[in-house]
Amino acid sequence: MSLVTTPLVDSHCHLPLLERELDAALESARDAGVGHILCVAVDLPTFPGVRDIAHRYAHVFGSVGVHPNSESGVDEPDVAKLLELADDPRIVAIGETGLDYYRQSGDLTWQHARFRTHIAAAVDSGKPLIVHTREASADTIRLLREEGAERVGGVMHCFVEDWRTAAAAMEMGFYISFSGIVTFKTATELQAVAKQVPLERLLVETDAPWLAPVPKRGKSNEPAFVRHTAEFLANLRNESAEELAAATTRNFFQLFTAAMPVAA
Ligand code: NI
Repeated sequence: MSLVTTPLVDSHCHLPLLERELDAALESARDAGVGHILCVAVDLPTFPGVRDIAHRYAHVFGSVGVHPNSESGVDEPDVAKLLELADDPRIVAIGETGLDYYRQSGDLTWQHARFRTHIAAAVDSGKPLIVHTREASADTIRLLREEGAERVGGVMHCFVEDWRTAAAAMEMGFYISFSGIVTFKTATELQAVAKQVPLERLLVETDAPWLAPVPKRGKSNEPAFVRHTAEFLANLRNESAEELAAATTRNFFQLFTAAMPVAA
């Protein structure tokens, strides 16, 4: 049992996809000291499920967006559609969006177009971006710059890129969020990056149901496990777990200004 009493935020997870029953998983999260959760959308057909959860639980917020790996042409959103769906007090962010050259190759013009659409919707709505980038960091930073993403900011979620990418994103007002990947034994380069990110720019997440942190690696992930990633990071960075929990929670509400905190 952890002695840390400062509540954490799981800044990125996919609650409709959890293996466990939702109420049970949320109760475990509470027991693990997870005070708030951001449930992230990946496409439009499943968005109503995200929205319902965000309306049902006061400590869970939602986002709207179409993942870069979501099939092209299926319910492709335009800016107006994203703005319409984001016009909801429980929807606090636009995403997840971004670029992924790892899982997809060939002509990815459509991925660029989709990303630009999301950046425009974020700027228009004033709701920050949740950015996924995988083996596409140069183009990701370039598109964010070209579309003026610094006007709204956001988070580089499940960050696995190099320091240069982190620094370029932070220059545009972005936060850097680490998932369970940073706890993996082989993730030494990423751990070096995580050590350098200023505390006031740091977020933690599970990306549940994927990527469970050590010591839960290989299991189906859930928001309660964000505790392990936070404790690992605190240890890595020579900070107290309390300090890291307080800072990442403060950062979360500073970024997602539409998210209203509830008392623990
Ligand atoms: Ni995700």
